[in-house]
Amino acid sequence: MDSRARLVGDGLENPANAYALRDAAAMFGVPCLFRDGRGLAGRWSAERAGGPLDMIDNTELLDPSTPLVAVENAPGATSVFGTALPAGRPSVVVGNERLGVRPDVLRSAARCVQIPMAGRGVNTLNVASAAAVALHYLVAASGRRTVRGARPESRRPAVLLLGPGDHVEAGSTLRSAAAFGWQTVGLDDRAKVWWGTPRPVRTEARAAARSSRNPLRVVPMPAERPVPARRVVVAGLRVAGPPLHRVDLTGGPETLLVIPDEEATGPAEEWRRLGSPVEFARLELPAADVPYRYRLVAAIVLAEVARQLGSRSPGRPAPAPRHRPRYDSALALVDSPDAELVSVAELESY
Ligand SMILES: C[S@@+](CC[C@H](N)C(=O)[O-])C[C@H]1O[C@@H](n2cnc3c(N)ncnc32)[C@H](O)[C@@H]1O
Repeated sequence: MDSRARLVGDGLENPANAYALRDAAAMFGVPCLFRDGRGLAGRWSAERAGGPLDMIDNTELLDPSTPLVAVENAPGATSVFGTALPAGRPSVVVGNERLGVRPDVLRSAARCVQIPMAGRGVNTLNVASAAAVALHYLVAASGRRTVRGARPESRRPAVLLLGPGDHVEAGSTLRSAAAFGWQTVGLDDRAKVWWGTPRPVRTEARAAARSSRNPLRVVPMPAERPVPARRVVVAGLRVAGPPLHRVDLTGGPETLLVIPDEEATGPAEEWRRLGSPVEFARLELPAADVPYRYRLVAAIVLAEVARQLGSRSPGRPAPAPRHRPRYDSALALVDSPDAELVSVAELESY
């Protein structure tokens, strides 16, 4: 285990997010602890998680001898791309799916970092994806600054998500793409996790993508018929190539960035059919033999594109909405035996 930090999930509700958070911690070789308070312990399955729920209480979390780094898009937060970890094995804290990091942590934090977002409808990542991005820049790739790019939008590459094998991982990755500012994403849905799926799968996938307020266009793009591109870059954990930050991941729509689900597609993928030349960019991790989770790898790749694209105002958090949303119409409930009821809280917690 890396002694430089530990990851803390603060008040997470959805056990699936908590399992993904453990995977994010494992990718960077840091321990993963949870401050409960929203019933996570009651929903925890040691079998599904691959281990027990390791808890941390208020006293230990707020102990002043262990600095806190809050990961939250709160006012005054600095960009994760340019912030260093404080000394003293800090706790890197991510928050509840709806409510964020609790105020006691935000008040006591030595640093509060945000992942710059450029999305229109969706401006947060899934909590585990946010943790993976934060650990990547704080623990593994610290010191890489936000680039001050001229006209970043003109250099944004086309993206193809290739063969995600799980609907929630796919949905969560589409949410990340939208939050990092893509308006259109190509999807090779060979495992049928997004289109033509049974209704419950579809509902979960759309909830993970935050489809209700995510204006992203998802277009079918089988790998054998990708958009025409001058350059193709395949980015992942298991490809052979230079580290992610050494490869230019920008280049505008004539560059196609391919993010394969390496667990689902396997090593036999015929990359040349994507067009040539094909370059590879590898996500280097400090830990070996880590669990593979598509949303986490993809979120780091997309974050690195965002860092390379730069922004006109690096480090400045998105302004908070001035008004709560107002609704002037309501959905009517349909009394049908086929209908599937999902509570708002359940959807929100993805
Ligand atoms: C879905 S977010 C919580 C809701 C969020 N506070 C909001 O404004 O709606 C869940 C957690 O993921 C992390 N997170 C997600 N997107 C983030 C971002 N852009 N910057 C920093 N943290 C982020 C934070 O730890 C946050 O508490």
